[in-house]
Amino acid sequence: MESIAENSLMQEIVVDYLNNNLRLQTKHLTYGDGTTGSYRLKDNLSKFINNYFRSIKDVKPKEIVVSSGKEGSAKTSGQDFHARSRYEEIKSRRYSGLLTLYRANAVPVSFGSIDPFSVEALHCYEQELVNFNKEHPDARIRAILLANPHNPLGRCYPRETLVEYLKFCEKYDIHLIADEIYAMSIFKTSSNHGAVQFHSVLSIDMDKIVNPRRVHVLYGMSKDFSSNGLRLGLVISRNRQLVEAMSSITIFSWPSAPADLAWCIMLEDTAFLEYYISEHQKRLGEGYEFLTGILDNLGVDYARGCNAGFFVWADLSFALEKPVDGSEPGLAEDMRLDQKLIQNGVHLAAGLGYQAEKPGWFRITFSQPRPLLLKGLAKMMKLLKGVDIEIPGVIPVSYHKTGLADSTYSSSRSSPDPLFVRKYSM
Ligand SMILES: Cc1ncc(COP(=O)(O)O)c(C=O)c1O
Repeated sequence: MESIAENSLMQEIVVDYLNNNLRLQTKHLTYGDGTTGSYRLKDNLSKFINNYFRSIKDVKPKEIVVSSGKEGSAKTSGQDFHARSRYEEIKSRRYSGLLTLYRANAVPVSFGSIDPFSVEALHCYEQELVNFNKEHPDARIRAILLANPHNPLGRCYPRETLVEYLKFCEKYDIHLIADEIYAMSIFKTSSNHGAVQFHSVLSIDMDKIVNPRRVHVLYGMSKDFSSNGLRLGLVISRNRQLVEAMSSITIFSWPSAPADLAWCIMLEDTAFLEYYISEHQKRLGEGYEFLTGILDNLGVDYARGCNAGFFVWADLSFALEKPVDGSEPGLAEDMRLDQKLIQNGVHLAAGLGYQAEKPGWFRITFSQPRPLLLKGLAKMMKLLKGVDIEIPGVIPVSYHKTGLADSTYSSSRSSPDPLFVRKYSM
């Protein structure tokens, strides 16, 4: 079972589409329009973002810097912040890969029983920031990095919380880096009607709240377009100095012209785009219900109310060893459980990597091929509970009827073929 956040549910559709429509020209073998993405791509991205992210003020192509993968963009923007002054960052429980790239020092914030998506959570940040600045007169907190939708919790920040984040950044003279890479990876299920919908920070009227120059949005092709391997990411920023500084170093993360073209044709084909996004969201919802249905049948608990991302945040703490001194399981037991799973071929993303406050929590990705997911879950149950599970017996009933349990979707494509044959125009 794989821990990595890739979406195999849509890959065949993307591959078919690109194989039918991508036509390279000699210009795609040149240095093109420079190191920050083609003008055509930035134009398409600005239209896409303004439409799908509901930007209150149009994002202009010149406010976009494209690079090879969103981690490339993060690295580029992070390097710029880093070059200006030493900075520290406040972090919550979330995707940790970016921290490594920023080479930032992270300041952990504990929420205890407070919902990290609530406005109240800002008090925890404030307390930590004030204490940190008092105790470290030579360093300063410079930015908050927010993954919205959240990885690994699969939830979106309410609009009012985002507004508070913006006010907080203005009050303390810090930047907000909003990682919105899962913006279109949201879904409906029978159990998540009340879940908070995705709101981009770009959809908030910032004028009276925060200087827009301190707000930066990260996006990319990896998740919403199921194309991690094409390595395209971007930073959207109204901070001209930052855009210029990033543009001067994107030579190290120069996006490839064929990848750039691939995204262009998908974005330009509005019929395909609409179909693609609705199918993506539908399949994610089904994938989520498939996995949570199985977890329910297996008696494994997980965080409820999710409507975003490719994963379920599952509680495997029942399998933690008990410390010999009678204390509660902690980091050591958490690490041992993670190792036990990995050594037996079950690679889940451990809560450790997300600074989870409680041990025993793991991220299970449901957007992997179903047979692989089922095999992994069976292995996991054997390992952690010593039980042999009967796979057909744990699959939710609705999946028996559709036959989707055996499929990765590749053999049950529901898309009309005409969408794959695009009238080609350059
Ligand atoms: C929240 C978040 N940001 C960024 C990334 C990395 O994106 P990319 O493939 O564009 O480097 C991931 C990948 O798992 C992620 O979950």
